[in-house]
Amino acid sequence: MLQYLHMAAKDLETIVALCKRRGFLFPGSEIYGGFGGTWDYGPLGVELKRNIKEAWWNDMVHRRDDVVGLDAAIMMNPKVWEASGHVESFADPLVECKTCHERIRADQEDVIKLHEEGHRTNKEEVSWTAPRNFNLLVKAFVGVVEEAERPIYLRGEITQGVYVNFRNVVDSVHPKIPFGIAQVGKAFRNEITPGNFTFRSREFEQMELQYFVKPDEAEGKKWFAYWKQARMDWYVSLGMGKEHLRFREHAPDERAHYAKEAWDIEYHSPFGWKEFEGIHHRADWDLSRHQKFSGKDLTYTDQESGEQYTPWGIETSGGADRATLFFLLDAYDEEGGGDDRRVVLRLHPRIAPLKVAIFPLLANKPALIEKAQSIYKTLKHEFVTAWDARGNIGKRYRSQDEIGTPFCVTVDFDTLSDNTVTMRDRDTMKQERIKIDELVRYLHDRLS
Ligand code: GAP
Repeated sequence: MLQYLHMAAKDLETIVALCKRRGFLFPGSEIYGGFGGTWDYGPLGVELKRNIKEAWWNDMVHRRDDVVGLDAAIMMNPKVWEASGHVESFADPLVECKTCHERIRADQEDVIKLHEEGHRTNKEEVSWTAPRNFNLLVKAFVGVVEEAERPIYLRGEITQGVYVNFRNVVDSVHPKIPFGIAQVGKAFRNEITPGNFTFRSREFEQMELQYFVKPDEAEGKKWFAYWKQARMDWYVSLGMGKEHLRFREHAPDERAHYAKEAWDIEYHSPFGWKEFEGIHHRADWDLSRHQKFSGKDLTYTDQESGEQYTPWGIETSGGADRATLFFLLDAYDEEGGGDDRRVVLRLHPRIAPLKVAIFPLLANKPALIEKAQSIYKTLKHEFVTAWDARGNIGKRYRSQDEIGTPFCVTVDFDTLSDNTVTMRDRDTMKQERIKIDELVRYLHDRLS
């Protein structure tokens, strides 16, 4: 694996423009003027995000013996959210501008400052209402008669699906503590000020692990430290610059209502150090509350010792959309200038949306097209493969560099006589001749 130079994008606008132009991300419902805090993933964005989620699932579930997966419903009995404490405590402080009535999160000083500057520039007064708590749960109605139904909440965190299924998982697969339940899925929050592209959205995806341990201080400490480091190492293993990541501990008054201890992994983005993933010590908050509200036994019995207890949950909670954005920002690199300017997304091969592109050197030579097409069909069975026969070859390389395709294969006249192709590496731009028979193995070795 190459050691990448971690340049990272210097401004968010560059990435926003690239995402729109190349089909990574579009504003949600764009033809109707958009819908605040929602984003649609285009043909390349959906591949990148899927690859991130798949890499997470592989490393967190398939490659481990102590973690199983789950996919719970988004719509849940409203009692879940009373038990979890979200109806009462899942809120952000909100202030309203008395001049234009815009509502902003009271703790977002930079947004408030910008807003005040706008009014002052227009020689307008600016003052705010006192902060009040605004609940972030998104309400919905289910049933045929709206008024007759109790509102439900779209899940504000994917977590609760795991806790309400704790008994089901224990009774069906009999895991031995310590063990984890992993889940990936959508969550919804009525964010007061969504922004910074997908960073804070109203609909987003989370990748979470709830890891159950004995309710014991030493055990809790040990596994908390383990998961904190494991999650940081995971981002680095996928090529993210170490120097762009750091830990930050939550102060007691900052912690979510369920957390006994909380740390963030933060990313150094163009808009400052920002939360990337949270590691939370939830202790027995969730299981005890659901036990109390549902009246069901959610304890665990150790089959060997006969010990019975309510386990503690150590949580790792990352955002798939945030990861997609931060991987894009971190991978972005520009080289050269003028006609030699090269934009390259140095994405790790595991998450790159397209793995290989294949080009016939000239688009008007049937023999080259035919040969290239036959290789394309073989590669397409094995890898996500692009075909491009437009424009000069240099431009085609640049076009693939900009979307992070690790390898390009060119079929030229020599191919017709010696059955070799040119393999070009995105990062080094080095080219080498490879036998067609060896292509699949060559790529497997480098992409896995
Ligand atoms: N179950 C714990 C939990 O939900 P959180 O810190 O509120 O904890 C965890 O969220 C992660 O979910 C965040 O670190 C972030 O990656 C992602 N996330 C949270 N709110 C988000 C939003 N409005 N837009 C995009 N991602 C968000």
